[in-house]
Amino acid sequence: MKKILLTGGLGYIGSHVAVELIDKGFEVIILDDLSNSELFVLDRIKEITGKDIIFEKGDIRDYDFLYHLLSRYNIEGVIHFAAKKAVGESVQKPLLYYDINVSGLICLLKALGDHSIKKLIFSSSCTVYGSPDSFPVTEQTPFGDTPSPYGKTKQMCEQILEDASLIADYDIVSLRYFNPVGAHPTGKIGELPKGVPNNLVPFITQTAAGLRDELSIFGSDYNTPDGTAIRDYIHVVDLARAHVRALEANLGKYVALNVGTGKGHSVLEVVKTFQEVTGVNLPFKIVDRREGDIPEIFGDTNFANHKIGWKAEKGLAEMLKDAWRWQKSLLK
Ligand code: NAD
Ligand code: WQD
Repeated sequence: MKKILLTGGLGYIGSHVAVELIDKGFEVIILDDLSNSELFVLDRIKEITGKDIIFEKGDIRDYDFLYHLLSRYNIEGVIHFAAKKAVGESVQKPLLYYDINVSGLICLLKALGDHSIKKLIFSSSCTVYGSPDSFPVTEQTPFGDTPSPYGKTKQMCEQILEDASLIADYDIVSLRYFNPVGAHPTGKIGELPKGVPNNLVPFITQTAAGLRDELSIFGSDYNTPDGTAIRDYIHVVDLARAHVRALEANLGKYVALNVGTGKGHSVLEVVKTFQEVTGVNLPFKIVDRREGDIPEIFGDTNFANHKIGWKAEKGLAEMLKDAWRWQKSLLK
């Protein structure tokens, strides 16, 4: 049985990937410092899968900890989720973001090199494309201007990985996530935003649950059919399955893949679909655009389909239904 280390594996995406990997017969070891996750998630993963998971609490910037962890287990591959991800916070705390996201990756790469571990999957983001002007974006679309330190850390990390792959016998895949939403269909794991959510779907579900008064839609004067901004929302379980496929594939050196659905949805479409599938009324108002937001992005996913045989299967209605089930479970 292949042992896979998930850094940041108790977080939103890592926890869903842990479930999919265990379902496919992998043995999962989770490393997390619990800075943005809760220990109960470990029990939930065990409940869903019926399997035991090794958990190691620690920081990816701690080389000695990483070195000893990798020495203890015969790890064949690593999926690196551990990072800070709040765009706004990264403007306030750029050094923290560069330290955890960039220095953390370098520390991990050194420890992997010292154990001859070749296989690495990296959590990248469509934010590397900045504000593109033609759609869908392909992996050949160049990196764009991304105003936040967060976005820049993802560009830097991809560059570091590509350069590292040139001098060693690595097999590295960067997965460029579009907008992951939804939750596991069991309602046992999902996103756990701290404080007021920045992202659209958790804000919607918290408003529907009565925890927020109303949703503010940021801008209705974009050059899109209904004037609101367009994104490529992807179900977190589909996204998780792309990691399993990327681990199983043998692509060699370095490759970056778009992981989205290939379809764009406007903010108003998301709101309407949520109301339709849940039957819950969602109070909202239109306000000014949010600073730094781009009008539109959605990805071409043919390359991922070709390279790892993966395609998203779940649509917006399922994403929102599952997100709502998860939100309701948090109220109990
Ligand atoms: P998350 O915050 O839920 O998960 C990250 C996990 O890493 C958390 O459990 C946190 O406790 C842990 N962590 C943070 N710093 C650490 C450190 N120094 N050492 C050890 N553990 C640490 O975030 P997520 O949404 O699951 O995102 C996972 C990855 O995917 C991140 O790299 C993020 O940048 C990337 N990503 C996320 C999205 C998104 O919208 N959620 C989109 C694109 C890319
Ligand atoms: C989606 C749409 C908002 C909240 C961010 C990061 C990106 C990636 C994914 C990590 C936008 C609108 C939102 C609200 C709204 N993360 N919105 N009211 O901004 O596309 O991407 O998460 O890599 O890097 O930037 O996602 O969910 O915040 O917003 O109208 O209360 O919803 O303006 O058009 P975004 P989001």
